[in-house]
Amino acid sequence: MAQEVRGVIAPGKNQPVRVETIVIPDPGPGEAVVKVQACGVCHTDLHYKQGGINDDFPFLLGHEAAGVVEAVGEGVSEVAPGDFVVLNWRAVCGQCRACKRGRPQYCFDTHNARQKMTLKDGTELSPALGIGAFAEKTLVAAGQCTKVDPGVSPAVAGLLGCGVMAGIGAAINTGGVGRGDSVAVIGCGGVGDAAIAGSRLAGAARIVAVDIDDRKLETALRMGATHTVNSRTTDPVEAIRELTGGFGADVVIEAVGRPETYKQAFYARDLAGTVVLVGVPTPEMTLELPLLDVFGRGGALKSSWYGDCLPSRDFPMLIDLHQQGRLDLGAFVTETIGLGDVEKAFERMHAGDVLRSVVVF
Ligand code: APR
Ligand code: ZN
Ligand code: ZN
Repeated sequence: MAQEVRGVIAPGKNQPVRVETIVIPDPGPGEAVVKVQACGVCHTDLHYKQGGINDDFPFLLGHEAAGVVEAVGEGVSEVAPGDFVVLNWRAVCGQCRACKRGRPQYCFDTHNARQKMTLKDGTELSPALGIGAFAEKTLVAAGQCTKVDPGVSPAVAGLLGCGVMAGIGAAINTGGVGRGDSVAVIGCGGVGDAAIAGSRLAGAARIVAVDIDDRKLETALRMGATHTVNSRTTDPVEAIRELTGGFGADVVIEAVGRPETYKQAFYARDLAGTVVLVGVPTPEMTLELPLLDVFGRGGALKSSWYGDCLPSRDFPMLIDLHQQGRLDLGAFVTETIGLGDVEKAFERMHAGDVLRSVVVF
């Protein structure tokens, strides 16, 4: 039987979000209904509300979530009712060229639930990143659920569903940070801080945090940065070179998404270093570089999509490390809020006051 729950809707471009009754169908083949316990507020939710992703209003927002599986549809074997799960926005297909080559993190045929959640009047909702978890319950593809240890708090577990995984994965999966490496992270919001925490986890010897806001640099130190550079007042490329014996960093992670910071990342790496681009630029942004510099520098230039993560491998591992006290995921939760506070949380996020506000149920 379809059921009615409360969820946060973005009704139209730049209109304030509001809590409405939504209708969740029973799970069909390959689907699961999840009772959401916590869901973090991410920039992408704000971008949906602003119309920056697409025009498929109304959206059901929220996508950084953890909860308990309530019911599964036909043919679902990966999870069962009662399982504690973290949701991911890329259920891989197992069939495409990338999956068959053993690189499912590059799957081009990821999928979501087939059925639609609706408003009471039958209007179909577009769930943010195929999840829609600012809701008491949500309908997803079973492959979007990754079972993890239920001993961890839902507010912490849910973070792995998006930004924190993107940052940690940029360091450990895409960047391949190793013991003794020097790392520079440009932009120390939630994603950059997670890249710092990931670099520390991987054994980096030196982690230089770069930001234009001193408050962010203080937090970066708590996450494991060994040095900080305020790039409003100091040339970050020069500073990073100085801190790395004149060479540049082995791995530079860009977590802003602007031309000037892409350029800084490009020049701040060691000649054989790796640049990892996590910050998402807008369509009109371009970057001009002397070709001789592009040719003359070795190493690698990589972009990192969802931290090149494999949820079934990475989510349980990171939760294990958190439980052992080797990774403090709790440090990313600035505040827990209610379902009616999402609009306020967007304002605080926009002002740079929070790493993560997390809706708890
Ligand atoms: N130089 C250095 N730091 C900058 C600059 C700049 N020119 N401009 C902004 N910043 C800093 C901000 O002060 C902030 O600390 O970058 C940080 C960005 O953090 P958030 O806005 O919290 O964004 P976050 O969620 O971390 O995401 C960063 O990664 O996945 C992408 O889409 C995401 O593009 C975004 C980026
Ligand atoms: Zn695939
Ligand atoms: Zn997100």
